Amino acid sequence: MPDYDLAIRGGTVATASDVFRADVGIRAGRIVAVADRVEGAAREIDASGLLVLPGGIDSHVHVSQPSGPGIVMADDFASATASAAAGGNTCIMPFALQQRGMSLRACVDDYVRLADGACHIDVAFHLIVSDPTPEVLGQELPALLKSGYSSFKVFMTYDDLVLNDRQLLDVFDVARREGALVMVHAEGYDAIRFMTERLEREGRTAPYYHAVSRPEIVEREATHRAISHAELVDVPIMIVHVSGKEAMEQIRWARSRGLKVHAETCPQYITLTADDLQAVDMDMSGAKYVCSPPPRDAASQAAIWEGLEQGVFDTFSSDHCPFRFDDPAGKLTPKGRSSFRWVPNGIPGVETRLPILFSEGVSTGRISLQRFVALTSTNHARIYGLYPRKGSIAVGFDADIALWDPNRRETIRQEILHHGADYTPWEGFAVTGWPVMTVARGEVVAENGRVVGQKGFGRALERTAPGAGGTVL
Ligand code: URP
Ligand code: ZN
Ligand code: ZN
Ligand code: ZN
Repeated sequence: MPDYDLAIRGGTVATASDVFRADVGIRAGRIVAVADRVEGAAREIDASGLLVLPGGIDSHVHVSQPSGPGIVMADDFASATASAAAGGNTCIMPFALQQRGMSLRACVDDYVRLADGACHIDVAFHLIVSDPTPEVLGQELPALLKSGYSSFKVFMTYDDLVLNDRQLLDVFDVARREGALVMVHAEGYDAIRFMTERLEREGRTAPYYHAVSRPEIVEREATHRAISHAELVDVPIMIVHVSGKEAMEQIRWARSRGLKVHAETCPQYITLTADDLQAVDMDMSGAKYVCSPPPRDAASQAAIWEGLEQGVFDTFSSDHCPFRFDDPAGKLTPKGRSSFRWVPNGIPGVETRLPILFSEGVSTGRISLQRFVALTSTNHARIYGLYPRKGSIAVGFDADIALWDPNRRETIRQEILHHGADYTPWEGFAVTGWPVMTVARGEVVAENGRVVGQKGFGRALERTAPGAGGTVL
């Protein structure tokens, strides 16, 4: 009997704290040795010249969510997890969205059923609370938060999801009692409505005006309000998809007051700008970049980099929310053509998140390899209760590993990706550094751009309390 099922030999291991030369020995899906030499394995992978990184954990991914009448999200759990695996990820965290008028529990059961037997890599759900009825606040939400779903997202905008201030306070209070973490989509509903109606009256309806309708003030105001509510209730929150300096200032201010406010940002805020929504002469192709908050400008990108370098941001997620572009069930519904207001919000990005941050961050010397690992894997596991099972390379962890070629140059193109969308916002974007193999719980699930694992290998995970994994790096 060999001692190990798999040995990854000769690579450079990187964790959130260290970079060192080591072999990694794997048995029964777990890491059982990290040592100078690991010998006696049934299979060996030569990792010389490669980085051996904890598999990416993407804690902000939308899959199979209902998105309005006639609109279909471009990924189901099979394609989303295949795409994630090809991009060097070993775990994604999608949302189980409560639709108004429905039981939260029933919604969670629906998503778990959709994921069952479909996933190439592990998934762990957050909840989305859109209808905090007395039943949800009193029974369903506390019960779910106790049973392995220890975080949920709330929205301060969108007609069918927005919570008012009283509702925010009520759900924050449940989170405080249950030790859960609340993810907040911080953009102010009324301000967006006001701006949208004014733009429409002026006939400014092209996709570009989506960005004009939600300026940074709108995000800053809602961020401040969410932080104030969280302080009142005394609950930790995570401000997701932060787009620029104004919201960052609020987060810094909150932390200077000792508040537990985490923050996330995404690839779109370091690589895209509102000009991308202008497309060719304001044509509909600007819809390919419609997401919320919208990408801003070069100064905002610089501010976000500062936040990534200085530790304002804990996590770097994709906010993958894919719609097909050239499709009446996607970005170009008849209503979407009539006004930006109806273009479904969101862009695909689960497969390109890691190469973009590696190339723009590590290859350029802006961030260290350790910080890259913290931002893309370790902190997600720690904050959302997957640590010490996922998020590092050490004895006892799941053997979730991305083998990374730091020198490989690639150009991102739709034709090499595995998502269900028919475009990528990063078409033609050149990167240095690329995932060449993804190993999930000891099995090779993607190799050189091919998904080789089986549907149904990935499991839906239960989680411990957020932050149980200790300090975020
Ligand atoms: O535009 C976006 N980000 N759509 C996805 C949903 C969300 O708000 O995260
Ligand atoms: Zn959001
Ligand atoms: Zn934090
Ligand atoms: Zn999102």
